[in-house]
Amino acid sequence: MTKAIYPGSFDPITNGHTDIIERSAGMVDHLIIAVLKNNAKSPLFTVDERIEMIKKVTSHLKNVSVETFDGLLIDFAKKSGASVIVRGLRAVTDFEYELQMAQTNRVLAPSVDTIFLTTNLKYSYLSSSIVKEIAGYGGDISEFVSPYVEKMMKEKLKGRDTV
Ligand code: PNS
Repeated sequence: MTKAIYPGSFDPITNGHTDIIERSAGMVDHLIIAVLKNNAKSPLFTVDERIEMIKKVTSHLKNVSVETFDGLLIDFAKKSGASVIVRGLRAVTDFEYELQMAQTNRVLAPSVDTIFLTTNLKYSYLSSSIVKEIAGYGGDISEFVSPYVEKMMKEKLKGRDTV
C-alpha cells in the first residue's frame, strides 16, 4: 500500500492545490493532506478553518484524509508510514526551494521520496497569497477557489480593511 503526504500551509486551499490533490490521489492508495500548524507566515485562517475548507473541497475523494502536523515534515511522514511526499511545481521559481527541501528530507529519511507534479497550466500563476491579496482588496476570487472557500474568505474579511 502506497501512502503519500501532500503537505502545505493551505491558507486557503486553492483550485491549484485541489488539482494536485485529485491527480496525486489517483496515483496512490492513500493520500494524507498535511496542514502545517505552526507557520512562520502567520496564516489568515486557523488550522481548524483550513482543515474544514480542505475537507469540504476534497469530500468527493474517498482515499484522502486531512491531518495537521507540527515540527519536521519528515518526522510526520515517518510516523504516518508514508513513503512519498507530493509537491506541486508551478514555475521555475519554485524549483530551488523545492529541490532543497526534497534533498534535505531525503538525507533525513532516505526511505521517503518526494515527487513533483507540474501544476495544471490553468493554475500556474496561482498561490494562496495572491488569492488573499485579491480578496483583501475586494476582488473576485471565484476563478481561483471553490465557492465554499470564497464564502469563508468573505466571512473572514468582513469588517477588515485589507489582508
Ligand atoms: O504550502 P507551503 O507553505 O509551501 O508548505 C511548506 C511546507 C509546510 C511543506 C514546509 O514549510 C515544511 O515542510 N515545513 C515543516 C518544517 C520542516 O520540515 N522543515 C524542513 C524542510 S527541509
